Amino acid sequence: MLHVNRLSKTFTIHNLGGKAIEGFRDVSFHLCQGEFLGLSGPSGSGKSSVLKCIYRTYLPTSGEVAYTPDDGESVRLESMPEQDFLRLRHREIGHVSQFLRVIPRVSALDVVAEPLLRRGMEPLQARSKARALLERLRIPSYLFDAYPATFSGGEQQRINIARAVIWTPRLLLIDEPTASLDKGSEKIVIEMLRELKQTGTSMIGIFHDRELMQSVADRVLVLGNGSVPHGRA
Ligand SMILES: Nc1ncnc2c1ncn2[C@@H]1O[C@H](COP(=O)(O)OP(=O)(O)OP(=O)(O)O)[C@@H](O)[C@H]1O
Ligand SMILES: [Mg+2]
Repeated sequence: MLHVNRLSKTFTIHNLGGKAIEGFRDVSFHLCQGEFLGLSGPSGSGKSSVLKCIYRTYLPTSGEVAYTPDDGESVRLESMPEQDFLRLRHREIGHVSQFLRVIPRVSALDVVAEPLLRRGMEPLQARSKARALLERLRIPSYLFDAYPATFSGGEQQRINIARAVIWTPRLLLIDEPTASLDKGSEKIVIEMLRELKQTGTSMIGIFHDRELMQSVADRVLVLGNGSVPHGRA
């Protein structure tokens, strides 16, 4: 469903007099329906940037990202019209950033329910699903109506993951979803990702912990030198 071919990203830093910084170079891989690809490599090797190029937060400098949507017709994510891409994001592609982008004065419950509300679900039902997820992630119930801006790093991260899985995207891009979590919460998140995978969601995930990544990934792509996927994890 996803073919990434010779993708590269170079950043031009204007306050360094136009100096070029390489994000990553020549990355190729494919992802099948329902598959989980792990992305690893040292800090600064371009893992987050690869996900951002697929999600079009960044535009790649060169290369192709071909995606076959649910309705069948293959499209090029890096070059398709913005409106069409936004529609695709809305319908089937999710991204969990490394850090929660806090929405001011929206309660934790509504931050999590929002993707369902935006997709037309009835508010009572959306909030009830959000509540169930937050409970499962062991967020104390007195925090449901509080604003996540003041939450701890691990609490924010769990809000972020709940918001990503609640609407069962078809393709989910996950950037270090467990980095600030204790072992108990980490286990719950991994279980949730496994369940999501069973519904047919394809995922690309970056994990700090290699062992953890190998416990969910079907294959691992190591970024760094000449990035092609390594065999099975
Ligand atoms: N918006 C940007 N502007 C300039 N340089 C950037 C930008 N985003 C990323 N980079 C650079 O691209 C390189 C890759 O960064 P990236 O965040 O993708 O690495 P990473 O593998 O995710 O690292 P980490 O494991 O520390 O999260 C780094 O050298 C970084 O400084
Ligand atoms: Mg990163």
